Amino acid sequence: MKSLIRVASAPGKIILFGEHFVVYGTTAVVAAINRRTTARAQLVDKNKVIIRSDIGSAAEFGDFGAKVLEGGRDTKAILAPLYGAIRSVLIAHSQNSGVQVELKSQFPYGIGLGSSAASCVASAAAVDSLFRPHDKNWICERALESERMIHKNSSGADCYICTFGGIMRYGRDDGYTRIVTKSRLRLVVSNTGIRHSTGELVERVRKFRQDNLASFKDLSTQANEICIKALQSIKSGKIDKLGRLMLDNQELLRKIGVSHRKAEALIDLSMRAGAIGAKITGAGGGGAVIALASSSAECARIARAIRRAGYGSMEVELDSRGLVR
Ligand code: PMV
Repeated sequence: MKSLIRVASAPGKIILFGEHFVVYGTTAVVAAINRRTTARAQLVDKNKVIIRSDIGSAAEFGDFGAKVLEGGRDTKAILAPLYGAIRSVLIAHSQNSGVQVELKSQFPYGIGLGSSAASCVASAAAVDSLFRPHDKNWICERALESERMIHKNSSGADCYICTFGGIMRYGRDDGYTRIVTKSRLRLVVSNTGIRHSTGELVERVRKFRQDNLASFKDLSTQANEICIKALQSIKSGKIDKLGRLMLDNQELLRKIGVSHRKAEALIDLSMRAGAIGAKITGAGGGGAVIALASSSAECARIARAIRRAGYGSMEVELDSRGLVR
C-alpha cells in the first residue's frame, strides 16, 4: 500500500449582501475570507472511506453504510456530504481503494461561514490529487452535487466561492461574475454562538413571503438596489458607503424575521466600537455577524470589544486564491 498523502485547502466565505432575497432571483454579493479548511487525504488498505474532522466528528463510510467513530448524533449528517464528494471523486477515477481524510478548520462551523462547502471542496481536491488531478471547475461540480444532498435549494454560491475565491456577484439567472475591488476590505466576523439550520431559515422566509407577498416584493426590490449600489462601492473602493449599505441590508433581514437578539447585540457592539457597518451574514437566526472596519487598528478594536462581551470574534480580510493544493 502506497503511503501517498495529498493536502488541499479551501477558504470560508461571507455573504456581504443579498442573502435570502437571492433565493427569489435578486442579486447577492459573496466573498471568500482568509480562514481555511485543510483536508489531508491518504490511501488506506481497506475498501472504506474514513473522515475525521477537528470538530470532534469521525465516521467510516462504505457499502455497509456509515459507522460513527467519534461525535454525537449529528455526525453522520455533518460528514455525509463530504463522503458524497469523496465517493464521486473515487468513482471518477475508477478507484475502489480506501481513503482517509482528516480535516482541520480555522473557522467555526454551522454559523454561515461555508464550513461544509470548504470541507467538501478541500476533501474532493485532496482525494483527487491522490490520482490524476482535475481542474477547479471539476472539483466545484463534485462539491456542489454533494452539498445539494443536504441543502436541496442551495444556490451553490458557497462551493463556487470556496473553490475560486475573491468577491463575486451572483444571481439565479445571471450566474457568477467576479468583482475587482480597489480597496482592502477589513472585517470582523463575530459568532452569536447559535448554530443555524439554513434549510429552516429559508423555510421561515418562504412562509413570510407567502403571507406577505406584496411587502416581500417591495423588500426584494430594495435588497436588489442595495446590492447594485454595494457593487459600485466595492468597485470604486468607497468603504464608508458600503458600511451604510450593510446597515440598510440588515434592516431588510430584520423585517423578514431572520435576525436574532444576539446578532443585534453583536451589530450594536460592533457599531459602538467603531465599525462602519454591520449585518448578519448568511441565513441568520443566530449564526455570524460581519462588521466592516476602516483600518486594521479599528478592526482589532472591534474584535476586542466583542471578545470582552463574551463572544467569539476574528479579524478577516478577503481571500483571492480559493482552492489551493
Ligand atoms: O448557509 P448560509 O448561512 O451561508 O446561508 C445561505 C444563504 C441563503 O441565501 C439564506 C440561502 C442560499 O442558498 O442562498
